[in-house]
Amino acid sequence: MKLAVFVGAKGRGSNLMAVHAGIQSGDIPAVIAVVVGTDESAPALERARDAGLETGVVRAKGRPDDAYADELVSVLRQHEVGGIVLAGYLRRLPDAVVDNWKHKIVNIHPALLPSFGGKGMYGQHVHAAVLAYGAKVSGCTAHLVDNDYDTGPVVLQRCVPVLDNDTPETLSARVLSVEHPTLVEAVALMAAGRLRVDGRLVRIVDNPDS
Ligand code: GRF
Repeated sequence: MKLAVFVGAKGRGSNLMAVHAGIQSGDIPAVIAVVVGTDESAPALERARDAGLETGVVRAKGRPDDAYADELVSVLRQHEVGGIVLAGYLRRLPDAVVDNWKHKIVNIHPALLPSFGGKGMYGQHVHAAVLAYGAKVSGCTAHLVDNDYDTGPVVLQRCVPVLDNDTPETLSARVLSVEHPTLVEAVALMAAGRLRVDGRLVRIVDNPDS
């Protein structure tokens, strides 16, 4: 499967690099055809270029939504993309992308959805909210992407403890350490055709042809 990995304007690109490493080690049966960002100077795009990956910038701000969506679809088609990974991408994906790559888009969220998700729940906002609530566990969720923020069917979740003396930074680091293997596993399952979606339930099958 040819993948596009979408990164955010300020993203570090650690999930992108985890996917790249997962491909190189043979754990993910796919290739990264293109890394897509909205801002040329995104640190994650720089990491992608340093790793020798093809990159594309599709500007989102200051232009009509349709123009952004059309250009995204055309970049994805040009690279014959079969699956998409959102790795720190913060915008709502245009419907044209979600509808054309239905059940072929995986996002990683740094909390246990449906808690601490939705618009504006990203980065340290998530971990600060978990701590403010007094939750005892947090974790990450790899999910398929639908037309809203963080609401698509769950593929995999992993938990970490929340400690009494945690700060958003220490909790974020603990969650990030489970994000990487969780995203790699979810992308590997999608690329291998091993996900079956039944309403909100995602089943993992052994045989892609079943
Ligand atoms: C991660 O915490 C991920 O869960 C969220 O955005 C962050 C991206 O980090 N969607 P990185 O750029 O992959 O290091």
